[in-house]
Amino acid sequence: MLTREENELLTRVGPGTPMGGMLRRYWIPACLSEELPESDCDPIRVRLLGEDLVAFRDSSGRPGVLEEYCPHRGASLHLGRNEEGGLRCIYHGWKMDVDGNVLDMPCEPEGSTFKERVKAVAYPVREQGRTIWVYMGPREHMPPFPNFEWTLVPDGNRSIAKVMEEANWLQAVEGTVDSSHADVLHNGADTLLNRDPNRPADTKPEIGFRDTAYGFWTCSWRRHQDDPEHFNRVHTTNMILPFFCLVPPRGHYHIHSYVPMDDTHTWDYSIYYSPTLTINHEKTMARRTVMPGVDLYPDRRKIRNLSNDYGQDRQAMRERRSFSGIGDNPHEDHGIQESMGPILDRSREHLGAVDVGIIHLRQVLLEAVRGFQRGEPPLGIAPSIAYDQIRSLRRILPREVPWTEAYDYPAEDIFPEYAKELIE
Ligand code: FES
Ligand SMILES: [Fe+2]
Repeated sequence: MLTREENELLTRVGPGTPMGGMLRRYWIPACLSEELPESDCDPIRVRLLGEDLVAFRDSSGRPGVLEEYCPHRGASLHLGRNEEGGLRCIYHGWKMDVDGNVLDMPCEPEGSTFKERVKAVAYPVREQGRTIWVYMGPREHMPPFPNFEWTLVPDGNRSIAKVMEEANWLQAVEGTVDSSHADVLHNGADTLLNRDPNRPADTKPEIGFRDTAYGFWTCSWRRHQDDPEHFNRVHTTNMILPFFCLVPPRGHYHIHSYVPMDDTHTWDYSIYYSPTLTINHEKTMARRTVMPGVDLYPDRRKIRNLSNDYGQDRQAMRERRSFSGIGDNPHEDHGIQESMGPILDRSREHLGAVDVGIIHLRQVLLEAVRGFQRGEPPLGIAPSIAYDQIRSLRRILPREVPWTEAYDYPAEDIFPEYAKELIE
């Protein structure tokens, strides 16, 4: 449980808020490279941290992210012409390049130096891992770029699903750090409804966490269904500040990036990747029910959403074929997180034994944002952090192996059959 003040402190991300200030001190994803497919293509609207922005790719292929509103008199640059090295406002023709320089003011007198004295708001941009990243904080505090492993693997070894979540970013992060819900929300048909008495699933995981220079990793372990006397099923999740969650792998690795659009909307970039295996992107998107045009509207809101109860199948629930009746991700995870309301009131919760991970997450975030308010550097921006080395695991380990040694014990990650179908 949090006080209302703590809840506000953690959830508000707009300009001028403490958390908004802290989030602006990290490199964050702005959009996918495929949303700006070629030089001089159509610009797109990008809403990030409560700011309206426009992203475009200039004639030489360089991506740029500008404030959406023209520095002249505020017309939307999303309506602008993308031509010959800049974005031209269609109102009076001011033209801006990716760095915010004003290249042309066709209505100003010949010889005017006005354009040298005006600059559009333009944020530094980097394109890596088929993703366009932006840094929205003060230039003097720009941190080194976090070389996540998923941005370094060959393009064919990565599949990114981008889906809008209609809820505050912290609901998404908490849902991902919370290991225990998987046994119920996602697997309740096996673990609760149709329980095999000879092979009961352990739905009471034990949980530990270890703080790191970038956040923390949390470990959950359960008795292994096939040999509960001798083995545990062990999962780890890495919480990488500010909002990256590297969840347990399934043959491929899997990281979520929950980028706040504003206080009540979040981009979920859900990334499958492998250093060694080629992932079939089309098959992966279809299996995950995140295909734009099929499962998503053009703006990437879900077609099955809160207004239609995510297509919940009550008949399947009655017949015990499905526990949730929703049946797949991201609809189960987003659905349950959106069902809490746009910003969960955490002063009214009743946290149980299984919520220790959530409590720890909130402590880490509260300490980070309060440290930021005191002028300390945000957690995770030190140049020495090897982002490309961070990994989570999903393993069967002998029960005598302590969770703290999960990474050191020689064992392979579990590679489920269904995940093998996504590999080429
Ligand atoms: S408002 Fe953009 S050029 Fe005038
Ligand atoms: Fe989940």
